[in-house]
Amino acid sequence: MQYTTLGTTNIRISRICMGCMGFGNAATGQHSWTLNEDDSRAIIRRALEAGINFYDTAIAYQNGSSEQYVGRALRDMARRDEVVVATKFLPRTPAQIEAGVSGAQHIAASLEQSLKNLGMDYVDLYIYHIWDYNTPIREVLQALNAAVKAGKVRAIGIANCFAWQLAKANALAEKEGWARFVSVQNHYSLIMREEEREMFGYCHEENIAMTPYSALAAGRLSRVPGEQTKRLQQDVYTKLKYDAAAQQDAVIIQRVAELAQKRGVAMTEIALAWLLEKVAAPVVGMTKESHVDAAIKATQLALSAEEMNYLEAAYTPHNLSGVMAQNTPAAKGQAKVWTKSGNHPKE
Ligand SMILES: NC(=O)c1ccc[n+]([C@@H]2O[C@H](COP(=O)([O-])OP(=O)(O)OC[C@H]3O[C@@H](n4cnc5c(N)ncnc54)[C@H](OP(=O)(O)O)[C@@H]3O)[C@@H](O)[C@H]2O)c1
Repeated sequence: MQYTTLGTTNIRISRICMGCMGFGNAATGQHSWTLNEDDSRAIIRRALEAGINFYDTAIAYQNGSSEQYVGRALRDMARRDEVVVATKFLPRTPAQIEAGVSGAQHIAASLEQSLKNLGMDYVDLYIYHIWDYNTPIREVLQALNAAVKAGKVRAIGIANCFAWQLAKANALAEKEGWARFVSVQNHYSLIMREEEREMFGYCHEENIAMTPYSALAAGRLSRVPGEQTKRLQQDVYTKLKYDAAAQQDAVIIQRVAELAQKRGVAMTEIALAWLLEKVAAPVVGMTKESHVDAAIKATQLALSAEEMNYLEAAYTPHNLSGVMAQNTPAAKGQAKVWTKSGNHPKE
């Protein structure tokens, strides 16, 4: 396994981050396809054995049960200081705003709930899941800085944001002497490359770690079209995220398959090897133990400049989709894609 540092921190992370959204109680929360605790543990065990030390979960995943499964597994199978645990908090709900819960109170309560779910007394990376147009960034940063000062959080990150939002937040944090966002977790893969316009340059300039999610486009870059899995059949949310551009993407997926065959490797290895040339550590979802092995192999696969160009050449601009499509002031009053998760802490 290869390791790198998380942006400007001294936190060592494996170059594959295990995405833990697929772990959790399928009877509660957004997804019906998630793995039970035993199956989740088997994958986490395999990942730990392979040297993956970086785990990404969220309070939003399956009503906090992803945090619970991941916390229990890591506590049982690893030393706390050997793993890097990232979790995320959501914006306030309209009901919380109505009830007068402040942004700072909400962040503090979310963190307490996540620590309880994980069974840990600190998280390594606390991530602002999506820009909250109802809460001033000053208040968000102040609350996060307080969590860092209290020793409950080692570093802070952000997800689903535009480069201007991250630049604005970090400029304010720097001016005030507060903790700055050290990483960004946005949607980026061979079939979603909008990050290259603004975010790449900014992160490079500021040494902010890019740890993108949906690195395999929820499996679309891992298998030839037509192959079915439980998730593909049941994940309505992800269908919405990718179906609109399916025709646009087919040629790129075909090129991944073609190159995989030529090199005698799995499609997953090609898609991740490409990504590993671009970012610090992709966040990869895994629903089988064997998925861990393919991700590990990708860290050992070098693509030539010609192969990189071949994979990239067919890309055309995409509309934003999923959570990122709701990063807009116009979405202020709309139901959010994560609303069904219903896992806000009680303040
Ligand atoms: N910040 C955010 O808003 C946000 C949003 C989404 C995700 N995330 C994070 O990113 C992680 C990954 O997201 P994701 O699951 O949507 O995307 P992903 O990593 O692109 O896709 C994971 C899926 O790819 C398939 N797969 C993985 N390895 C494979 C292999 N070796 N061979 C064949 N298929 C393979 C599996 O699909 P099947 O199960 O169908 O086999 C798996 O469920 C999440 O767990 C979460 O931690 C964050």
